[in-house]
Amino acid sequence: MRRLKVVLAGGVIGVLLGGYMTPTWALEPGDPERGKVVYNQYCYKCHGVKGDGNGEVGGVSFPPPANFTDPALWKNRPDSFFIDVITNGYDYGKMPPWWDVISKQEIQDVFAYIKTFRKK
Ligand code: HEC
Repeated sequence: MRRLKVVLAGGVIGVLLGGYMTPTWALEPGDPERGKVVYNQYCYKCHGVKGDGNGEVGGVSFPPPANFTDPALWKNRPDSFFIDVITNGYDYGKMPPWWDVISKQEIQDVFAYIKTFRKK
């Protein structure tokens, strides 16, 4: 009986926290096609439809939103850095955090999409 309760409690907590607590290893690899949908909903206003930082908000923001086409932005930075920036925000929230807006899977997907802007 006791074991059953533990299992039930675990299940309820699992469902409640599922959105936030999904471990990274349980996610599918980022899909740029799905990421594009997320990007064009949440990111384009600042980062621009083409990822060059020239969104409508971009022109008035200081510092300007990151330009994903610029190879220098990507240099010497691991994937985990970008996942962290998208999840938790950056530079005192000038780049807003997204952990409570989109799922971990969507963060992987949108990251896969912004990588496609990078010029070699
Ligand atoms: C309100 C405007 C705004 C929105 C919306 C926004 N960003 Fe940003 N983002 C910024 C700004 C401004 C910076 C630059 C911060 C800095 O350089 O100090 C930035 C920087 C970044 C960086 C790079 C950080 C670095 O300098 O290395 C990444 C990656 C990023 N944003 C991804 C995203 C993604 C993905 C989304 C959509 C889920 C998004 N951003 C939505 C404003 C925004």
